[in-house]
Amino acid sequence: MFADDILAGLFSADGRANPYPYYRRLHALGPAAQVTPGRVGPFGAVVHGYAAVDRVLRDHATFLVSDSHHLDRGGQGWREHPTLTTLMTTIMFTNAPDHGRMRKLFHQVLTARRVTQLEPSIARIIDNLMDRMAKKAADDVEVDFIADFAYLMPTSVVGALLGIPDSDLDWFRPRVQQIVDYLDQTAKSAEVLAATDAVTREILAYYEEMIASRRAHPRDDLVSTLVQVLDAEDHRLSLPEVIANLVLMFNAGFVTTINMLGNGLPLLLERPTLAEGILSDPDLLTTCVDEIIRYDASLQYISRWVARDAEIEGVPVPAGSMVLVLLGAANRDPLRYPDPDAFDVYRPDVQSISFGAGPHYCLGAALARAEGRLAFPRLLRRFPKLAIGAAERNDQLLLRGYRVLPVTLS
Ligand code: HEM
Repeated sequence: MFADDILAGLFSADGRANPYPYYRRLHALGPAAQVTPGRVGPFGAVVHGYAAVDRVLRDHATFLVSDSHHLDRGGQGWREHPTLTTLMTTIMFTNAPDHGRMRKLFHQVLTARRVTQLEPSIARIIDNLMDRMAKKAADDVEVDFIADFAYLMPTSVVGALLGIPDSDLDWFRPRVQQIVDYLDQTAKSAEVLAATDAVTREILAYYEEMIASRRAHPRDDLVSTLVQVLDAEDHRLSLPEVIANLVLMFNAGFVTTINMLGNGLPLLLERPTLAEGILSDPDLLTTCVDEIIRYDASLQYISRWVARDAEIEGVPVPAGSMVLVLLGAANRDPLRYPDPDAFDVYRPDVQSISFGAGPHYCLGAALARAEGRLAFPRLLRRFPKLAIGAAERNDQLLLRGYRVLPVTLS
């Protein structure tokens, strides 16, 4: 079978429901393969072997993220949309040298120490959400783990990180969701873009006001530290650059983390001995969260465009072509992980590629892992009889997760 046919299956309803059999077929073709542009998206090649994916993501001179220069090739019309100009000003959609200049500042403020300091707040957020779920369940109403817990937790955590007051989060969530919905659409519609532009303008204004307020009255939060570092270092970043990356922080840490929590819970509940084990063994808890992140990655693929004629493991990739980078497949590469389709928390070196690699490696990886390590044991301890009802997947390949995950608590 050729890569074109496998990818057509992967992006079909069957592949969206369970991509893993398609990844096995791709691995049988080697670490990368040529595909016909236009058959499944714009891609001219697919890369799915772990080592090859890692190499592509680290070679940022050849394989670039889609940036403003790339978008300009299709015309300048996109520049009229604040949603797009904002996204294209973020570290996720810029290449060297702007990427390094902007990322340095955010790397300086989103440290491992800050994540550790945030842990008591994350624990409080989890406890409050569990209280809410227990109350809802007591009224004999069905509880949906996605809507009633996983959707709320990551936004509260990023809110606590940035210093956004709890009372503003209900204003934020639907607006962040609107941007996610726009990005999720395969065929981008003009109406959705117009609605997204409107919420983007509101969020930009919110952050502009927040920055001015923290400059005048600093607090112990990331935005205050950001302003201090920025002012001390002679404004290496413009205000729009800072604000755009704050918008990104919320979006990048939202659905990815919702899905990590949603994908992980059933894996734990199907394994009562493991579920009990992680309550008393912190090392087991750490590898268990990392194995959840490997086994059922919440972000299944990313893409790169090719800056100069190159090859990926013998597959020619001409300048200007697009490469589909299948993180979810690399995580199941039998050359990297023996018995890759087994969920095995005792793997000696579980480190996955779910957070990417190289210069764009996820800035929130430590935070996301901490969220998993705090949430799962707390949930299992508080609700020892937690059980899952009829779950529904979200019918997406990109952001793999559950749309609904009904649970009973007792
Ligand atoms: C399980 C949860 C998460 C997953 C699976 C995930 C995955 C990823 C991946 C694969 C990338 C690289 C994209 C690329 O190379 O094109 C990335 C980048 C990024 N992530 Fe995450 N992420 C998660 C959670 C978070 C959280 C909680 C935050 C922030 C609070 C965050 C912030 C970012 C940012 C800012 C970038 C852009 C980095 C850059 O381009 O330099 N992520 N993430």
